[in-house]
Amino acid sequence: MADNIRLDGKVAIVTGGGRGLGRAMALALAEAGARVVAVDLVADNLARVEREAASLAGSDALTGVAADIRKAPDCRRAIDAAHARFGSLDILVNDAGLLPSYAYPGRFLEGAAPAKFWNLDDDVVQNVIDTNYVAHDRMTRYAVPHMIAKGWGRIVNVTTRLSTMNRSGGSPYGASKAALESLLGAYADETAHGGRIRVHIVDPGATRTRMRALAFPGEEPESVKPPEIVARAIVERLLGKAPTGDKFRVA
Ligand SMILES: NC(=O)c1ccc[n+]([C@@H]2O[C@H](COP(=O)([O-])OP(=O)(O)OC[C@H]3O[C@@H](n4cnc5c(N)ncnc54)[C@H](O)[C@@H]3O)[C@@H](O)[C@H]2O)c1
Repeated sequence: MADNIRLDGKVAIVTGGGRGLGRAMALALAEAGARVVAVDLVADNLARVEREAASLAGSDALTGVAADIRKAPDCRRAIDAAHARFGSLDILVNDAGLLPSYAYPGRFLEGAAPAKFWNLDDDVVQNVIDTNYVAHDRMTRYAVPHMIAKGWGRIVNVTTRLSTMNRSGGSPYGASKAALESLLGAYADETAHGGRIRVHIVDPGATRTRMRALAFPGEEPESVKPPEIVARAIVERLLGKAPTGDKFRVA
């Protein structure tokens, strides 16, 4: 991370911080000087990210909170951890997600039946909407009052491109991302606080993560970018001059 990108004194929460894009974002924030709470379902992955952050940025750089953000008390626990461990909450990265391969395991494998939305079970639809939309709206509602009290805040919502939201076989993943994105107007206008609180949407584009590999098993890993490129773009955005409410895509 470049020396001029510094987030010293800031405290960030990254959901999905145990692997993939969330892990890369959590480490990039820690390297830039922020104190980070990485939130994830998988405790073992969080323990690894804690070790990685400690060697990059010191033992007090990052703490993991094992939590299921579909559950309101777990979200409260994550917010409380930021205060208890680091005394603040300035940045929220809503990254955790259930991808289309969750709804349609093996859909990209040769011979797989084409995805049809009417074959989805109720609990699959509920899980995707709860994770990709309800949980992030909840985390944002819980986090914003702390940012308003401090007079500074940054929120990053990770969504996807418009064609993915609308494509055949994309239900309910596309709908969950479209719903999160549709809140941008309300989030940006209602929190603006004289420009001191900013909300950004990022479309990471195809990125080399475990979830991507599961969805596209035949793809050469080197043909898609590593998550560190997306993480760096987000950290730069947090300190850049882009106005609240913008959506940016990482090529
Ligand atoms: N990888 C891509 O190509 C790509 C492209 C566009 C958008 N995205 C978005 O980027 C985000 C991260 O994707 P990724 O590829 O890193 O996926 P990933 O599956 O590798 O990582 C997602 C992480 O979120 C965690 N998570 C899932 N549900 C959770 C819950 N209820 N509570 C807490 N943690 C939970 C998982 O345990 C996992 O560690 C997602 O929102 C995804 O929709 C990814």
